[in-house]
Amino acid sequence: MKLTIIGTGYVGLVTGTCFAEVGHQVVCVDNDPAKIELLQNGGIPIYEPGLEDLVRKNVSAGRLSFSSSTGDGVEKSDVIFIAVPTPPQADGSVDLSFIEKVARDIAGAMTSYKIVVDKSTVPVKTGDKVTETIKRYCKAKVEFDVVSNPEFLREGFAVEDLMHPDRVVIGVRSQRPVPAMREVYDPFMAPIIITDINSAELIKHASNSFLALKISYINAISVICEAAGANVQEVANGMGMDERIGRRFLDASLGFGGSCFPKDLSAFIKIAEQIGYDFRLLKEVQRINSEQMDRFFKKIVETLWVLKDKRIGVLGLAFKQNTDDVRMSPAIELCHRLQKEGAHLRVHDPKAMEKAKSLLQDVTYVEDMNDVADGCDALVIATEWDEFKKLDLELARKRLTHPILFDGRNLFDAQEMERLGFIYKSIGR
Ligand code: UGA
Repeated sequence: MKLTIIGTGYVGLVTGTCFAEVGHQVVCVDNDPAKIELLQNGGIPIYEPGLEDLVRKNVSAGRLSFSSSTGDGVEKSDVIFIAVPTPPQADGSVDLSFIEKVARDIAGAMTSYKIVVDKSTVPVKTGDKVTETIKRYCKAKVEFDVVSNPEFLREGFAVEDLMHPDRVVIGVRSQRPVPAMREVYDPFMAPIIITDINSAELIKHASNSFLALKISYINAISVICEAAGANVQEVANGMGMDERIGRRFLDASLGFGGSCFPKDLSAFIKIAEQIGYDFRLLKEVQRINSEQMDRFFKKIVETLWVLKDKRIGVLGLAFKQNTDDVRMSPAIELCHRLQKEGAHLRVHDPKAMEKAKSLLQDVTYVEDMNDVADGCDALVIATEWDEFKKLDLELARKRLTHPILFDGRNLFDAQEMERLGFIYKSIGR
């Protein structure tokens, strides 16, 4: 198939690359000429495991190319995917102006039948608006179909999620685009479900909100565990063995972040409000999430008492492991809170230090995780990077002025940490 992806962010770039990997002919378009130039010269604007090699391989095979012209992309392909950002607005709703602009640009460039697929996360009924917009701005008056095809990839595991999806959701108004959409996705050998457009759009918001709810649920349980002297990991393991519940997304933490869950929750609450439903359940999910951060911060203050002029080492800046993305990162929020109280920070992240620099200033960025503890009053784990489990704990204990470790991601075994001589405070244990 000849495919065009408009928007080369996390979703667009990984989707386009994986489409090329299974044999499609793909053009990735972005209106940022610097980004396109970087990609054309073999560079990658984001860190995502496995992506760089895959891009290189498919560019040299002639299946993947980059362009800054939407018109060029529309002309070359039969199916055009929209994968542009839908950023949050102050009132919780999302800004759909990028989607609207791309719909107009596509409409202006269409000279024959096209399938226009929305992959960006959008409020229900956006498909209708895209259809109206294309109709209005398409001078050639050619036929087209709008399809909703939400993406479920996780950052840090994006290539794996895309190559092996649990399901592919295709929302359509008529059957006409279905065979082409099947042809796009058949190589991925995943179950394909065909729905109406509104349902497809809702599947995305409902799924993300449910996953956020799952995390807030286990975080609420972690509070009870602490008060009752139980261990949240054992509770999660026991719950997770019930197949109806499942163990994934039951890791208690200092809260979820990133560019998806916080934004999608607010958007879904707003959409529900507009439709006339007060989604109090999801408001509670948000409240539990922000309280989880408050509680973790309080633990630090209660242990260290005055933070002014204390040196604190922070491991992790990305919003989760395997990514350099720091948008809405709980780790960055924690750093800001510590700084506000006058603490001096030594920080490290395996991949996110460069991107963190614009959000987090007046800290010491440390290249080696084992040097972070140097002269610090305490160490904090803020992101669940696997490599932090390999921290040289003996060395850290020696380098800390006091052997105190706050673990916001439950990476270590509490008994082992005590045996090593640490005052160790984690979540729900
Ligand atoms: C999320 C969804 O998982 C994807 O399915 C979806 O496609 C994506 O949003 C999106 O809408 O684009 P992502 O935000 O990349 O993916 O990352 P997650 O792995 O879901 O993690 C989100 C946050 O939850 C992170 O801060 C992570 O540390 C936290 N988390 C996750 C927990 O605190 N506990 C858990 O058990 C799992």
